[in-house]
Amino acid sequence: ITRQFSCSSAVQSAIKNVTVIGGGLMGSGIAQVAAQAGQNVTLVDVNGDILAKAQKSIGNNLGRVAKKMYKDNPQEAEKFVSESMGRIKTATDPVSGSQTADLVVEAIVENIDIKHQLFQKLDQAAPDHTIFASNTSSLSVNEIGAVVKRKDKFGGLHFFNPVPVMRLLEVVRGAETSETTYRSMMDWGKALGKTCITCKDTPGFVVNRLLVPYIAEAIRLFERGDASAKDIDIAMKLGAGYPMGPLELADYVGLDTNKFILDGWHKKYPDQQLFKPIPLLNKLVSEGKLGVKTGEGFYKYEKK
Ligand code: NAI
Repeated sequence: ITRQFSCSSAVQSAIKNVTVIGGGLMGSGIAQVAAQAGQNVTLVDVNGDILAKAQKSIGNNLGRVAKKMYKDNPQEAEKFVSESMGRIKTATDPVSGSQTADLVVEAIVENIDIKHQLFQKLDQAAPDHTIFASNTSSLSVNEIGAVVKRKDKFGGLHFFNPVPVMRLLEVVRGAETSETTYRSMMDWGKALGKTCITCKDTPGFVVNRLLVPYIAEAIRLFERGDASAKDIDIAMKLGAGYPMGPLELADYVGLDTNKFILDGWHKKYPDQQLFKPIPLLNKLVSEGKLGVKTGEGFYKYEKK
């Protein structure tokens, strides 16, 4: 049994009750791994249909995990799924959904104004001891937390997609995050079975600060006609040992997401050459070629 699948971990976390806000791709994954690790989870989304969808996909994913964990013991597997699912409550109101939380992890839409509105409300209503963390990929943790009074209890917990599979958690220390909050976030991440790294609040933290410009450079290389998409991807897989090539990865992440992050950083850091807009990327996005999810990006895919 690999660590990320374990339901109990050697690391104890003082955090027992977590509220995850946003039941989309990331929030549902975070809720799943927390419940798997024995945490009481409240999953909140403004959209009730999304919550129903999230519960269904969490159930399916847990079923797969359980099958691997308890190969020869279907009864134990079933117990694992039903116990984990039993730890997940859902709610459509973030305020009432956070009343018992030791930790709130925000995984809503990547928009600073909407995140501000949410945290302002939560700050007034959540218990004093509750830690707030954002799962933002590309915004500043300090800027998101600027609207709360409890700045010592605010930080970043940046998970990776798909959350149950990707082992890394970036724990982001904001300018005013206290040592106690930081330690609690690290312990919580470890209790979930993740390997935690610590970083400051800089654009893209560690992974995306390296990955986004790398993908951008691969697109520019292709745009200049220096090599074919296929050859660029083969080159990085066989020459650098990467599991996916940069253009395959761009298609998997979504070209709209790549563009969104680059545009945001370019606006903020106009002198940084690596963040400059890429005409080819903008063209593909304007044509609705967003990668795997639309059936075409740098490559063509069979629609699911
Ligand atoms: P998503 O679009 O799948 O899910 C966002 C959910 O938030 C939606 O279900 C929406 O109904 C809900 N929502 C929007 N406003 C809300 C509000 N005020 N209160 C409660 N729920 C609200 O988005 P995804 O991909 O899960 O991303 C969420 C966050 O995670 C973003 O900040 C993103 O940057 C970050 N992130 C995304 C990664 C990815 O690979 N997609 C990787 C790591 C972080």
